[in-house]
Amino acid sequence: MKNRKIEELLKVMTLEEKVAQMVQVSYAHLGREKALEWAKRGAGSFLHVLGDDAREVQKVALESGHGIPVIFGIDAIHGHGLNDHATIFPTQLAMACSWNKELIKQVGRITAKEVAADGLHWTFSPVLCLARDTRWGRIDETFGEDAYLTGELGAAIIEGYQGESIDSPDSILACAKHYIGYGEAIGARDSYDTEMTYRKLKDVFLPPFKKAVDAKCATIMTAYGSIDGEPFTASKKALKDILRDELGFQGFVVTDWDNVNSLVNKQYVAADIKEASKLAAEAGNDMIMSSLEFYEAAIHMVKEGKLDEAVIDEAVRNILNIKFEMGLFEHPEKEMDSACIGCAEHLAFNKEMTNECVVLLKNEDVLPIKSSINKIAVIGPNADDIKTQYGDWAYFTHPLPNPDRQPVRPYTTVIEGIREAAGEDVEVSYIKGCSVLENENDDVMAAKAVAQENDLIVFVIGDEIDQAGEIKDRANLELSGKQLELFRLLKETGKPIVTVLVSFKPLCVEEVVEGSDAFMVAFNGGMFGGNAVAQILFGNVNPSGKLPISFPRHTGQIPVYYNYLPGWHGGKYMDLPETPLFTFGQGLSYTTFEYGAMKVDEANLTISVDVTNIGARDGAEIVQLYFNDKVSSMMTPVKQLVRFAKVFIPVGTTKTVTFTLTSEDFSFVNYEEKRVTEHGEIELMIGASSADQDLQKVTINI
Ligand code: BGC
Repeated sequence: MKNRKIEELLKVMTLEEKVAQMVQVSYAHLGREKALEWAKRGAGSFLHVLGDDAREVQKVALESGHGIPVIFGIDAIHGHGLNDHATIFPTQLAMACSWNKELIKQVGRITAKEVAADGLHWTFSPVLCLARDTRWGRIDETFGEDAYLTGELGAAIIEGYQGESIDSPDSILACAKHYIGYGEAIGARDSYDTEMTYRKLKDVFLPPFKKAVDAKCATIMTAYGSIDGEPFTASKKALKDILRDELGFQGFVVTDWDNVNSLVNKQYVAADIKEASKLAAEAGNDMIMSSLEFYEAAIHMVKEGKLDEAVIDEAVRNILNIKFEMGLFEHPEKEMDSACIGCAEHLAFNKEMTNECVVLLKNEDVLPIKSSINKIAVIGPNADDIKTQYGDWAYFTHPLPNPDRQPVRPYTTVIEGIREAAGEDVEVSYIKGCSVLENENDDVMAAKAVAQENDLIVFVIGDEIDQAGEIKDRANLELSGKQLELFRLLKETGKPIVTVLVSFKPLCVEEVVEGSDAFMVAFNGGMFGGNAVAQILFGNVNPSGKLPISFPRHTGQIPVYYNYLPGWHGGKYMDLPETPLFTFGQGLSYTTFEYGAMKVDEANLTISVDVTNIGARDGAEIVQLYFNDKVSSMMTPVKQLVRFAKVFIPVGTTKTVTFTLTSEDFSFVNYEEKRVTEHGEIELMIGASSADQDLQKVTINI
């Protein structure tokens, strides 16, 4: 039925109408009038437009040509962030600290409802790039460094966005991006060549996209960059052989911003836009984001006989297929009440989930803050910086679609959260001391004087939006401005220091961590990031987050990630310890978990462990299972996460955590680019983090 309708439409559509379906227009860049012209011409999609503006575009589209409804896409990547009344969650990196698939699925559900209620259908999320080289500007947009965790959390949020079915009133389309290897551009220089083989790409970077395809993700966005000199936009191998044929992807592919023009003016593989349009269409890009010149060029190439019209038909078929599947023809707008946008229920969930997104990494008996502490000094640039706390792609941190917006309540910064949680008996003073980037108002001596008068210092540091995002890669991740100088002065007071990192990525904070009595990471916690930090400081919430990413000791140690390949002579730089400052999977609780001996049923590949809460408070533990293939025909990682479970364990009780594996879990991609499992010994490792000292090991035979 659906297929018949698609074929009927394809028969009556002119070439111009078909090519227009492939075009995605940026309303924010073009403005209303030009956008409406494109709607009349039959453009298939618009991005960066909200609410009534989108409704107007849709009306024009429905009244033009064959009345094919437009699909609206938006970067709702941690909540519907470009709408200033929506629920804005922690960024992907911060949410990944929860290791909680259920919560992340729920983030997707709520985002879908709010996006749908705003007249839109599609979010450009999740990001499935791996964050290995943290100099890259977009680390905050990822789920961290590990492919397994990224795939699991990615599938969870996709299930949340797309709900039971993509034609439900409260579902939107997901878009797994950026396909592929974007985070691995050389030197973390945004959109540069990804210098690796397809074997490695398939081994390490493809699995999260496979999980996205298996979760029926409706769309995939291509990466800006290239692999081994071939732009992904022009790569049949990436877009057809692997994505369609190997993974079985059924949805449609959208390019990233202006990728087709980039073939001409950035990557120089096409002499002009006509050649570029042919390359992009033939490679398997179905929808072309913002390179509007594609329209004329592709039509010209077909008319000249240089581009087969069947290529255009195939792309339009892929797009119409999703438009029919999501019921767009019957319901050009989802029937969702806009009252759900930022509603009390969504905000309450956001507040609750954010409590799981903070990672406590050091605590020398200072936290939770003791009742003997009467005066607290809150110091540092990010204690009251709502912009950093919201992170990228929020209406007032990202210039689109509406520049110069101001933050709208409700939100809670760290200082606000501390004031609220401290209660009346504790005196809280706040002084910024310095900015993230050096500033003439910096007054580190005044901050030291305030610290001197208090019993405890909460020092809130980090980076800021100008140091993160596209084209904001950093060559140096040491603390910027006078933050380190301020820390040294605070140290001189001899007062206990609790340091909180509010940042877009792991920064190099070794000296600060060593000199602090406690250290926690909040990344960009969204609306209630400050509340979560305060609740943990005062012990109202027991921290349960763990790191989805490693912390380097020094910028020169990057890339540093837990699942490296063995073989480096000496295994370390001569002037740094072997280990990172903190490694993947680490995170403390206010209670203590004791692991029993790992039990392995080798025949059924079932692994279990008893975990007992032997401390004084209820808490949640993230139990992690890793493996190492002891001898294999290709080198494989020293360890690789293969399962995890987050379990709530009341005080004095034991929970048994059981994982069942299959032999495919131990597979890798061999020299012929085929995924295989080889016979031999596998070392299983279970425990509280990826650090050797946290893992117990058992060897089995496969
Ligand atoms: C980004 C994508 C984003 C797109 C649309 C590009 O600049 O790389 O992640 O979805 O713009 O805003």
